[in-house]
Amino acid sequence: MKRWARESVRKRGGCGFVPTLGALHKGHKSLIRKARRENSRVVVSVFVNPYQFRKKQYLAYPRDLKADAAVARAEGADVLFAPGCRRMYPNGFESFVDMPDMFKRLRRQKLGWHYRAVLVVVMKLFGIVRPDRAYFGLKDPHQLALIEMMVKEFNMPVKVRPCPTVRERDGLAYSSRNALLAPDERKTAAVIYRALKFARDETLATGAGNWRKTTSRMKAMVNSGQKAAVEHIELVDARSLLPPGKECREILVYVAARIGRQRLTDNIRFRIKQQT
Ligand code: PAJ
Repeated sequence: MKRWARESVRKRGGCGFVPTLGALHKGHKSLIRKARRENSRVVVSVFVNPYQFRKKQYLAYPRDLKADAAVARAEGADVLFAPGCRRMYPNGFESFVDMPDMFKRLRRQKLGWHYRAVLVVVMKLFGIVRPDRAYFGLKDPHQLALIEMMVKEFNMPVKVRPCPTVRERDGLAYSSRNALLAPDERKTAAVIYRALKFARDETLATGAGNWRKTTSRMKAMVNSGQKAAVEHIELVDARSLLPPGKECREILVYVAARIGRQRLTDNIRFRIKQQT
């Protein structure tokens, strides 16, 4: 967009941006609708970023650009940006964003490489689209925290707008991977949200200091589901992502679990009384 056109969009209410990997579902739709309400121009991007996946997952990721374009249009998007891989990463591309301390805190997930790739692509997309506001789901709390930090530390002229997680009737968070579950796996998957609610109730009843016991009971609960196996659980201070200390006011409980061959993630956050 030319500079004068950008200025005029800004004056009329600004440009809202929803970056996605495609396979748009109700979670994505809620982000697009929020962007629509708050901006005069809405851009949705669909780009399956190769560097944030393992090769097998990248190849298997569901792709249907026509269907995505129809969904984006129906929710009120003005522009669908779906760049090719070569255009995003010309030969010789080598820049990356590092946050040594933050990545260290996420070490237990062993996904530093993934988040680094997410930050690079989001920074690139911000540079191309130049939005006034960008919409991200609380469904991916670590991704959101890293993007907020990147925006703040690099003084990026964009407002990050967090959006609540949208769930199916039994509590399972919408995800492009849900469609890849067999019917029995889909049934089992509801155990993830049940375990998160259990952790919330248990923490509110027994205190955040009890986090080791709470997470191990959660783990047993998820693992009791057929074809379910916990990969990673954490119950941390939502702000620092560290184990809850005395000053902790808000808790984040995060689960990554394999259901059959799919890796599903979900989380819950809630406020607690300050511990004495
Ligand atoms: P993707 O998984 O397609 O998600 C795009 C956005 O939708 C993210 O901000 C994510 O948190 C949000 N989202 C996903 N499921 C949701 C749900 N059930 N409720 C509410 N929001 C939900 O996250 C990515 O893509 C990529 O990492 C990306 C940021 C596009 C960079 O490649």
